[in-house]
Amino acid sequence: MADTISIKTHGPDRWTRLNITLHWLIVVLIAVQYFIGGWMIDFFDGGLEGKALDGSTVVLGYLHIVIGLSVLVAVLLRLWDRFTHGRPEHSGGEPNWAVTLAKVSHIALYFLLLTMPIAGLTAWLLGNEWLGDQHILASDILLGIIALHVAGALANHFWFKTDALRNMMPGRGRTSGTR
Ligand code: HEM
Ligand code: HEM
Repeated sequence: MADTISIKTHGPDRWTRLNITLHWLIVVLIAVQYFIGGWMIDFFDGGLEGKALDGSTVVLGYLHIVIGLSVLVAVLLRLWDRFTHGRPEHSGGEPNWAVTLAKVSHIALYFLLLTMPIAGLTAWLLGNEWLGDQHILASDILLGIIALHVAGALANHFWFKTDALRNMMPGRGRTSGTR
């Protein structure tokens, strides 16, 4: 009966559809956050200084808060999905240093995506300028790690010729139950 026994030595072959959808949703939301970040600074600093604010600053300031908190929820959902349904193995086509760099940068991305909204919200609620400055510093660091992450995704595809990028494309996902 040996041919009917399947020993599972590795995780699923693909991401879940939910995980892929959330990945690209988060990318869009974060792009908007950087685009409207300048208005948020005016909204926050102007509020602290008691300045009169124009309508677009107020609207885009509140939008920054709503989108930032949506990122937090989406990241928590994504982490839940990843730990309950697994993620595809890192391909054997990459050298070990690249796999290690990918793992470290993924941890850094999750860490920043979870702590940034909390720091931003706390700065906003308490009117704490120092926390606001840390939030801005974190946004610069996040941008650097995103650049590294995108370079890694492209290197996987064009240089190491792995399926990593193809696997993250919409339409490539599995329903959570199937492998
Ligand atoms: C992951 C989600 C978030 C990202 C990527 C993000 C990103 C940014 C960016 C890029 C800036 C402007 C930095 C610059 O132009 O130099 C900014 C400013 C700011 N953000 Fe966020 N943000 C996020 C979530 C939030 C949330 C949920 C809040 C809640 C209120 C918030 C509050 C603020 C505040 C108060 C500032 C101005 C800080 C200051 O002037 O000292 N952010 N954010
Ligand atoms: C705001 C920008 C982005 C953020 C915050 C982000 C975040 C993440 C995170 C946290 C993971 C790790 C998943 C895990 O192991 O649980 C991931 C995976 C991935 N991302 Fe992104 N990403 C961004 C943009 C992009 C872009 C533009 C591309 C394509 C050029 C991309 C391609 C990928 C790929 C291929 C993976 C899978 C990597 C693997 O299999 O190890 N990402 N992303």
